[in-house]
This record gives sequence, structure tokens and C-alpha cells, in this order.
Amino acid sequence: MAKQEDQFKKVLSHAKEYGYVFQSSEIYDGLSAVYDYAQNGVELKKNIRDYWWKSMVQLHENIVGIDAAILMHPTTWKASGHVDAFNDPLIDNKDSKKRYRADVLIEDYCLKIEGKIEKEVKKAAKRFGDAFNKEEFLATNGRVKGYQEKIAAILARMGKSLENEDLADVKALIEELEIADPLTGSKNWTDVKQFNLMFGTKLGASAESAMDLYLRPETAQGIFVNFLNVQKTGRMKIPFGIAQTGKAFRNEIVARQFIFRMREFEQMEMQFFVKPGTQKEWYSTWKETRLQWHLSLGLGAENYRFHDHDKLAHYADAAADIEFKFPFGFKELEGIHSRTDFDLKAHEEHSGKKLQYFDHEENKSYVPYVVETSIGLDRMFLAVFSNSLQEEELENGTTRTVLKLPSVLAPVKAAILPLVKKDGLPEVARKIVADLKWDFNVAYDEKDAVGRRYRRQDANGTPFCITVDHDTLEDNMVTIRHRDTMIQQRVGISELKGIIDKEVNAKFWLQKK
Ligand code: GAP
Repeated sequence: MAKQEDQFKKVLSHAKEYGYVFQSSEIYDGLSAVYDYAQNGVELKKNIRDYWWKSMVQLHENIVGIDAAILMHPTTWKASGHVDAFNDPLIDNKDSKKRYRADVLIEDYCLKIEGKIEKEVKKAAKRFGDAFNKEEFLATNGRVKGYQEKIAAILARMGKSLENEDLADVKALIEELEIADPLTGSKNWTDVKQFNLMFGTKLGASAESAMDLYLRPETAQGIFVNFLNVQKTGRMKIPFGIAQTGKAFRNEIVARQFIFRMREFEQMEMQFFVKPGTQKEWYSTWKETRLQWHLSLGLGAENYRFHDHDKLAHYADAAADIEFKFPFGFKELEGIHSRTDFDLKAHEEHSGKKLQYFDHEENKSYVPYVVETSIGLDRMFLAVFSNSLQEEELENGTTRTVLKLPSVLAPVKAAILPLVKKDGLPEVARKIVADLKWDFNVAYDEKDAVGRRYRRQDANGTPFCITVDHDTLEDNMVTIRHRDTMIQQRVGISELKGIIDKEVNAKFWLQKK
């Protein structure tokens, strides 16, 4: 646990030191759970968004994109169920005055039990050596089975109580498990209450005529209300999808864990409209397609797992999360939801407008079913960034900090370094920059010894360093150094574009098997 916390602290300080993420309004001591993306962060974020958009929109003939407004007619949120049901169960600690999500306190308690299981596995693996069979051990070891049953019983009870709105039982569970305030250890809790997560705002100049609005808590509703406009103007045939990226806002109670849970964040969502009755198939297809998208980035298959939901949201007939192993454990990164015809039907009812599709093959109209894929861009940023930050022991006994970002996502693709600041080397380096910058985001760096510049670019996540030396003046060759292997090659200046492109082009990454 302490190791995880250390790694997470390193992630936070590296993100700031290398110009990836800053706290919002830092000079005023910041705003809780709101962050700004800095000069490198904005590039990484844009590259993740582009990688998603390319794979979801550009590579799918039957998916198109939109960019709906953040402010929507307030009835949208009545229809979607957010006004009545977009709540989190919160609990306050009377001594510390800190507020928590009751379900998160209970889930964190279960995570601690999971930690005990992991310890047992490690101990047994050491004892049995090569003969160790993890699956068999998990299925047969008495102590481990006891832990697993305890977790299952706790989560089942919590799920049932939340479903039945039995908040008194949620509190009783917290007390029975003797869960304490993580910051102070106090067990002096208030009752559990429901808390709506939407931010309110007003539209209009005068207090009397102003209309109460909400900042959208998800981008999806902008797609639903535009379903028929897009279908008709794009002559889309079912099955088809509408994709969107954009800001969403939630007044989160537990706003810890850096950019994992923010009050202002960005989503990348796609609603796939299908014929009723085919949603199960499409749900499985999208689960697999989205997992493959994640795997294409090479962050390690062992860092992903599906979590199928037992407790479904009010609109879903099936739902799963793709969880990622963040520095603080496995947590939701993306949701895939089979949303039935709930949203379109609700908007039909509340607007009085038909939102139906005429199926020429079936010769009838119907309200399509929807399978949704929904990923938080900031969470994806954190997954990529935290997984890429590594400390490496080198053969000469020193260590280096390297940010091994997938090169397709790296903010700066190459740094061009003149070996010295004289003898015409900066001029040649500048010429290389002037040529490469049309195709890639590149940087020029002439300060400090070249070894230090390599280290700086490693920590910055730059996949290539290109060094111009005195021989370059004679033979038009440069040294290209690869961030991950530190291998250096002598190549012609004219070859640079091809070498970089091969490694950073999304085509190469998305086609990788
Ligand atoms: N339209 C469905 C929807 O919004 P969700 O599970 O509430 O579903 C989808 O959110 C994704 O948005 C999550 O998997 C997560 O990646 C991201 N997300 C949700 N709340 C967030 C927050 N407060 N901060 C950052 N990302 C968040």
C-alpha cells in the first residue's frame, strides 16, 4: 500500500514538474477537484482524444460525430432521470466534519480484504515455487475463500440496500464493519443521505425571468436529443452510431485521487443505435472492441479487467466497466452500457416529438435500442501517464526517470539537439526542426550537456532525440536515439521523417495485433 502511495505521489509531482497538469487557480490555493492541463498535458490529452476519434468515427463508416452544447433545455434532465435519480449516498463524520460517499467507504473496506488475498497469494507463490497454481489456490484455500465470501456478502447487502433506498441499512453496515474515517479514525457517523450531483446555473439577465439550467453531467443526452436530426440529415441506417467528446460536470462528494474523479471533466461517448432485440450482440461486440482499443496502446493486458454490474442503472439492461490498474488499484476507466430504449422513449414522452426510425427492410417504425461506450478522457490520461512513468536502473548503476508514453500519444515526438551551441550546428538543427514541424510536434533544445538533455527528454516522454554533430556538416547524417531502448543509430537527415512516422502513426498502433 505504501509503495502504491509513493508511486502515486511521484505521478502527481511529475505531472506538475514536466508541465502536464496544474491545479486550477493554484495562486488562490486551488479549487478542489478541478485541474488545468499545461503545455504538455494539453498535447497528450488531444492525442488521446484524436486516437479515440480516429478509431471510433473515422474508421467506422456507420459512426458520425457531433459537438452538442453544454447547456441544454432543463427538461432534458427530467427526462433522462438525472433530476430524480442522479444521486450519491453521502455520509458525514461528526468529528472530522469530512464528507464521504457511503458506498465508496464500503468498497474501500472490501479492497483492503482483497489486499489480504493478494498477500496470501504472494506467500503461497513463494512457498510452492514453480509448482504454484494461482487459480487452484484461490479456489481451494480456506482462508482465501473466507475472505472472498465476506466481500461478496458485503457487496450484495450494500447493493440491495441502495436499490431499495434503505439508507439506514447502509449506515448500519458501515457501523457493523467498524469502518472509520480514513483521515482521523473516528467512527462517529451521521445518517446516510442522498445528494444530487448536478451543478445548477441560470440563463437570463434578470432574476425574475432567469431560467434554471444544469451543466450537463454527461455528454450522452446531447446525442439522444439530436438522434433524429443526425439520422435524417446523414441518411444513417440502423445500426449506426453518434460519437461526441466534451466537458461534463458533476459535484462529486469524494473528489480525491487527482484527475481520476473531477468536478469538471471530459467524456468521449458513443451511442450505437440498434434494432430492438439485437442489443445483447452489440453489447458484447462493443465490450470487445473497446478492450482491443485499450490493448492497442500496449500498457499491458494484465492491467485491464471487466467488471460486470450486478446493480444496474435505471436505464440499463446490461452494463460493464473496463477497469484499469491505477496506482491506487483497479478502478473504472470506461463503461459499456446497454441502455435499452429508455432515453429516446423518455425524450419522446417529455417533448411530445416522435424519435423513431423507419426501418425499410421491416417496413415499420420503432424506437431504437442503444449500446453506449463512455470513457473519461482525464481518466484515460491518468491511466496512460501513471503506467508510463518508470524509474529504471541502468547498467552503469545509475537510474533514470523515463515517461514511456505510447509514442502515438507523446506530446513531443522528437527533440532536435545540436551537440554544441556553435560551429553552425544550431543552424542545421533549426533547419531539421523547420522541416519536421509540418508533420510532427517537435522541440529544439540546446541547453546543457547532451546527456542531461537526453534525460530531460526521457522524463518528458519524447520518443526520439536527434543529435546534430560536427560530422553532420560533412555527411548529412544525425544520431537518432530511441527513448525506451536508448539505442542510437546513425541515419540520413532525409530518412528522419519516415523513421518517426513509422513509430508515431496511429495506423501502426491501431492495426497492431
Ligand atoms: N453516459 C454514461 C455515463 O456518463 P458514467 O459511468 O457515469 O456513465 C462514464 O461515466 C465515464 O466517465 C467513466 O467511466 C469515467 O471514465 C468518466 N467519469 C465519470 N465521472 C467522472 C469524474 N467525476 N471525473 C473524471 N471522470 C469521470
